[in-house]
Amino acid sequence: MARLEVVYEPQELQNRLLDLKKQGKRIGLVPTMGALHYGHLSLAITSKNECDVTVVSDFVNPTQFAPGEDFDKYPRTLDNDIELLTHIGVDFVFAPSAAAMYPRGFKANVHVGGVSEVLEGSFRPTHFDGVCTVVLKLFNISGADVAYFGQKDFQQVAVVKKMVSDLNLSTEIVSCPIIREKDGLAMSSRNKYLSPTERENATVLYRSLETAREIIESGVRDAKQVRETVRQMIEAVPDTKIDYICIADPDTLGEMSSIAGNVVILLAVRFGSTRLIDNIVVPPGKQSV
Ligand code: PAJ
Repeated sequence: MARLEVVYEPQELQNRLLDLKKQGKRIGLVPTMGALHYGHLSLAITSKNECDVTVVSDFVNPTQFAPGEDFDKYPRTLDNDIELLTHIGVDFVFAPSAAAMYPRGFKANVHVGGVSEVLEGSFRPTHFDGVCTVVLKLFNISGADVAYFGQKDFQQVAVVKKMVSDLNLSTEIVSCPIIREKDGLAMSSRNKYLSPTERENATVLYRSLETAREIIESGVRDAKQVRETVRQMIEAVPDTKIDYICIADPDTLGEMSSIAGNVVILLAVRFGSTRLIDNIVVPPGKQSV
């Protein structure tokens, strides 16, 4: 493919990609809400390496924001996003309007129970319905053979995988590693909201996750002890509010009391009015010393 094309209409993208699929091209999709940073770009680069055609969607999806959340102030930087994606050699940017995705009379809602109802789901009860609805639409519009998601949103990957399995979707889901700033803060479009002090304070997230990993690797098996250490580190930083710290089975996201096998530590913390999430997976091989 020669150069990047920006498509705004779902039907147009669907037709274009259907033609390419008929030619036997493997289609890779990277769903995003724009305000792109290197975390997003890493997904697009992986898709470029593995697929014939790479589509990045750039759409701030209204249905996954609850009233009072940051939909209105969410950064919108489409021109800059297009420039970044042009450098990578992405084939299509899909940038629909909200009216094109949710025309008058739109009524569908995709609810995946269970794994969507804990953690983020308990603090943002309608969030994953919005995510699943838009992601399913994006899968159908693009006809993607494979879709790339970041482990940064660990629960989102679990929910999307469950949707794919429950609804027999044919799109393969690939989860890609978290890209971090030099000081460990996971890249996020929402980091832009942080004041300089909050930005500094937010480094506690990765420091506390790394400490948790070290404790587990040193042989501690009591999840409560690990959680307590993380909690104390975060609470020692001014103006933080912990939504959750969870030590869970990575497959079910069920909370663990005794650490055994693969484990994920997930957290959501507010720094002033900005809510950040992060996580770390500690594989079983590293848990016994
Ligand atoms: P957004 O927050 O823009 O993220 C788009 C994709 O980039 C997600 O899969 C997310 O996990 C990944 N990502 C974000 N920061 C990352 C980082 N630091 N390292 C690696 N990957 C990272 O997630 C959404 O948008 C939306 O919910 C969406 C799936 C697009 C549906 O609207």
